[in-house]
Amino acid sequence: MNRLVFGIESSCDETGVAIFDIDNNKLVDHDLYSQIALHAEFGGVVPELASRDHIRKIASLSDNLLKRNNLSFADFYAIAYTKGPGLAGALLVGAAFANAVAFSKNLKIIGINHLEGHILAPFLDSPELEYPFLALLVSGGHTMLVDVKAFGNYTVLGESLDDAAGEAFDKTAKMLSLGYPGGAKLSKLAESGEEGLFHFPRPLLGKDSLDFSFSGLKTHVLRVWQKAPNHDEATKAAIAREFENTIVDTLLEKINRALMLTRYKRVVIAGGVSANRLLRKRLLELQDTKNIAVFMPKLSFCTDNAAMIAYAGGQRAKAGLFDPQDWKINIYPRLEFTTLMGL
Ligand code: KG4
Ligand code: ZN
Repeated sequence: MNRLVFGIESSCDETGVAIFDIDNNKLVDHDLYSQIALHAEFGGVVPELASRDHIRKIASLSDNLLKRNNLSFADFYAIAYTKGPGLAGALLVGAAFANAVAFSKNLKIIGINHLEGHILAPFLDSPELEYPFLALLVSGGHTMLVDVKAFGNYTVLGESLDDAAGEAFDKTAKMLSLGYPGGAKLSKLAESGEEGLFHFPRPLLGKDSLDFSFSGLKTHVLRVWQKAPNHDEATKAAIAREFENTIVDTLLEKINRALMLTRYKRVVIAGGVSANRLLRKRLLELQDTKNIAVFMPKLSFCTDNAAMIAYAGGQRAKAGLFDPQDWKINIYPRLEFTTLMGL
């Protein structure tokens, strides 16, 4: 029987489980339970509620996935789980569950950096992707450009100095009273917004910088909204449109700079904001005009999921990289991208 990895994701408000076949290098199946409805009435993720809901769902979600694939935990070679970064209580649930299963079935255990999971996610539906490539990770907590030379060999070229792109989307959406989660809602509204009614400065931070700064943009939007003569839907939509244009222009400019620097011909985008319609459209234009191959995961692999954790676990297992079976439940809520990642 092929060696299988069971993947678990519980870093924020999604409980995810997945099965990855190491020897076929292929995702077998995965499932996701989203807590969005639970947190919606509070306008954001409530950490304590998130932990409790992970506890409520993790065993039954795993059980269902195993049953529908006619497997049991004893059939697995390793368990991979997200060890950070993320909400401490939420991470603890996945880590404790993974360690308990691995201990009881004597399986290998692999803690995964959530960010590595995101960056490798495009391999799930683009097996033709090869190293090296440039990766733009744009999520609720991170915005970074990474030089991905090989599996486990990552150099951060630039990152957000303040708000992440997703955070800017969410905060701006909240300001415009668009509800939760705001990023996708703001983007939807932007589609109907009139182009050119507003112009916001692009936060490029000088001509060579590969870093990002989106907190000034958020404040700028607030001022524009407060001063707007009309607080109607059309004004809101036009602001949303220019906000999205500003973020996407900035991301594209930095991608272009990083491509010049690395001379790479491949770009990968990952993280929740990579589901953004305008960003994907502009990247396809880049692909057509500049002969750059762009790899964008399908939407369900852009946002948090366990398939990417199982994939990263599978690659680590192939390289023989396991955590000690000391059954300590280690989590790293502030885990840096480059920590514990090298081979
Ligand atoms: O990767 P992810 O699911 O969770 C984190 O690890 O942060 O990313 C969530 C972020 C949120 O900020 C959400 O507003 C944003 O991704 N997002 C979007 C879109 N869909 C999700 N932002 C802009 N446009 C979208 N269509
Ligand atoms: Zn994420």
